[in-house]
Amino acid sequence: MSERVEIRFPHKTVEVPVFVGTEGEKAIDVSNLRAESGYITLDPGFVNTGSCASDITFIDGEKGILRYRGIPIEVLAGKSTFLETAFLLIYGHLPTITELAEFTNRIRRHTMLHEDIKAFFSGFPRDAHPMAILSSVVCSLSTFYQNENRPENELMELNTVRLLAKLPTIAAYSYKKSIGQPFVYPDNSREYCENFLHMMFSVPSEEYHVDPDHIDALNLLLILHADHEQNCSTSTVRLVRSSMGNLFACIAAGICALWGPRHGGANQEVIEMLEHMRAEGGNVKKYIELAKDKNSKFRLMGFGHRVYKNFDPRAKIIKGACDKLLNKLKRHDPLLDLAKELEEAALQDAYFVDKKLYPNVDFYSGIIYKAMGIPVPAFTVMFALGRLPGWLAHAREYTHDPKNKIGRPRQIYTGEMQRDYIPIEKRG
Ligand code: ACO
Repeated sequence: MSERVEIRFPHKTVEVPVFVGTEGEKAIDVSNLRAESGYITLDPGFVNTGSCASDITFIDGEKGILRYRGIPIEVLAGKSTFLETAFLLIYGHLPTITELAEFTNRIRRHTMLHEDIKAFFSGFPRDAHPMAILSSVVCSLSTFYQNENRPENELMELNTVRLLAKLPTIAAYSYKKSIGQPFVYPDNSREYCENFLHMMFSVPSEEYHVDPDHIDALNLLLILHADHEQNCSTSTVRLVRSSMGNLFACIAAGICALWGPRHGGANQEVIEMLEHMRAEGGNVKKYIELAKDKNSKFRLMGFGHRVYKNFDPRAKIIKGACDKLLNKLKRHDPLLDLAKELEEAALQDAYFVDKKLYPNVDFYSGIIYKAMGIPVPAFTVMFALGRLPGWLAHAREYTHDPKNKIGRPRQIYTGEMQRDYIPIEKRG
């Protein structure tokens, strides 16, 4: 018989079932608790609440383990490509040669944007944040693809491909807009990452050679960002999907959730923090003390994680990749030295040790993006490009779950109890 636990209330004891995952994680299923006891659970920030069961990604935050569909992140980082990893996340298995070729070709056929979308870019101010542009243009795709008379499953497939194909084009156009250069059309003879870098950095008037080391580094970073189970942006995507929102709206919402500095926006903040530190003379100790001072509101950006209480395996891989890329490019970045010094100091400090605060995925990624020439405000856009397959996989998993329900948390009301309406002339 499956495990059950008893929850004792003042007036009665309720038995609830225990849900066990394939890796042995356990959850008490409280879905009937209110009906049986009158109580709900209260967990601000969902610190201890599972919002769903999912087959996509496994994390063991205590051991620093991350697996996509059962495959360790270290293996995918060493052997896979971004599109292969995207296929794995979305369809649940590694593709055959034919499946990958078909998937890649379908994406190739959808890289262009409708010409009218260009007008949207003209409307944004030159200094608009690229995440604002990205989310707006992605949402606006739903105005170009509406009322399509196709079966639901076919539409889901098509929109999955459209989003994977068009997000790099939108991202590159937003950069070109910010520097006043002409948009560069996608070149479908190039592979995914190369095509993106070509759209970012080439100009129509000259030949441009995309550095293969940059392509490799981008592939790696996108793989490492591709999914991370129920993080803030993915939960947002699932929640919007739960109202049966269209896929473009779901992904636009995910992009907005990713933007904030506590989540994906941290990669921009890390570099800005390191640059600030360097300009002030690189006083690592001062920043460590500031991060510990509860009155300062300052946090060491790129440090800490809700789930990892050990090294973030992605941060370890990215740190190694940083060294490799800068060595290959024969470039020295003093920010990398500073970041390493900061990491070392934090990891020896009792505050960070006791709270189990380690560098997260955002701590070193910006240094690679910087070496590739990606402008700092676009760092979180790069994160979004990587996270897209994860968002899509979760939106699809939610949709295909026959027991899915609209996401609608409860609350405990703490405001005024019922009171009288006082006419305005009688209010003191
Ligand atoms: N610097 C200093 N102190 C920190 C930091 C940090 N970066 N992160 C957490 N702490 C402290 C908190 O002050 C808190 O201390 P307290 O217990 O004395 O109050 C304790 O560690 C626990 O922190 P919480 O904020 O409660 O942890 P939570 O799981 O809610 O937040 C988060 C996780 C948002 C990532 C947090 O660590 C943070 O703000 N980090 C900096 C921003 C960042 O790098 N975000 C990217 C995360 S990875 C990603 O989303 C892609």
